[in-house]
Amino acid sequence: MNTRVLAASPATLSTAAELLASGQLVAFPTETVYGLGANALDKDAVLSIFAAKDRPADNPLIVHIWHREQLKDICEVSPLAEKLMDAFWPGPLTLLMPRKESIPLEVTAGLPTVAVRMPSHPVAAELLRVCDLPIAAPSANRSGKPSPTTAQHVFTDMDGRIPLIIDGGSCDVGLESTVLDINQPTPCILRPGGVTQAMLERVIGPVTVAGSVLRPLQKGEKALSPGMMYKHYSPDGQVSLVEGAEAHVVAALRELHHQAEANGHRACVMCFSEHVADLADCHPHDLGSQACPEEVARRLFETLRRLDDEHMDAIFSEVVPPEGVGLAVMNRLGRAAAFRTIQAKEVIEKA
Ligand code: TXA
Ligand code: MG
Repeated sequence: MNTRVLAASPATLSTAAELLASGQLVAFPTETVYGLGANALDKDAVLSIFAAKDRPADNPLIVHIWHREQLKDICEVSPLAEKLMDAFWPGPLTLLMPRKESIPLEVTAGLPTVAVRMPSHPVAAELLRVCDLPIAAPSANRSGKPSPTTAQHVFTDMDGRIPLIIDGGSCDVGLESTVLDINQPTPCILRPGGVTQAMLERVIGPVTVAGSVLRPLQKGEKALSPGMMYKHYSPDGQVSLVEGAEAHVVAALRELHHQAEANGHRACVMCFSEHVADLADCHPHDLGSQACPEEVARRLFETLRRLDDEHMDAIFSEVVPPEGVGLAVMNRLGRAAAFRTIQAKEVIEKA
């Protein structure tokens, strides 16, 4: 199949809407990451998403809408859900709500709830309006790869597998939406994102965060969100997270990099902009300013993809405090590292 990449324009969006209406797949930009969309009401179209991504069938999809009227055929909407929609839609918040019959079980992987979000990206919103269908869309990466934040990333993963990628530039948030389960006594964040725990609590009171957000699933532990079971966001090389006081971390990154190179590895560091000059001889990848977790979020997936392009096999990374958007960053970075962590102080003491 020939994969076209077209700049977002009215003509591109009407081509995309025709493809979607005829059961085909279209990749499109959202404010979080690029999505791989299909008509959510068409079971066969939905199944072809799983084939194009090599996605396990038990990992459910998010349904995207542009108008709340569409919800009447998709899910049951509670007063709590309405309150959250008033505050955060359109935007990077996905809500789990009881599924209605017209949504095929292929979308929800057999679960009784369906995940729904209303993206704020103008191209996504316009595409959803023009096609006027609920669109099921996971991130447009091959399963196991970092989510795409540019049309080029999508092309790398999907060339020959889908007919159209709409190019809308780089994504603003850079990490996938916050997934919130509102079907339990205290709402629970299953996947942290741009809408933070504090932002949610200001609107609806106490919200918890699933334990597995910052650690691997334990043996026998049931994944609340099936996506959390899978190896995710991982570059091909081994990522290690380096923790400790700022001065220790910079010294430890240098030491670990030199040791790895001495052992014949292609080694690099991922560090904050503030430390790039200090680590100039350690092949630094700039994560953005440590004062701005939003910037780190925006750059993270692009940086992880670059590590693969450069065939790095030993990667040492700084960490951000797991607060605010930093929680979402550490959830993705932790998974990229399989939660492998090194204490900076111990590295320096041994050196
Ligand atoms: O920002 C985003 O959410 C992007 C853009 C394209 O909208 N989409 C995205 O989709 O990240 P995906 O499929 O890569 O991630 C969806 C996550 C998965 O972890 C999945 O397991 C979870 O949402 N999920 C979907 N439906 C669910 C449900 N009914 N119950 C629990 N988790 C669910
Ligand atoms: Mg994904």
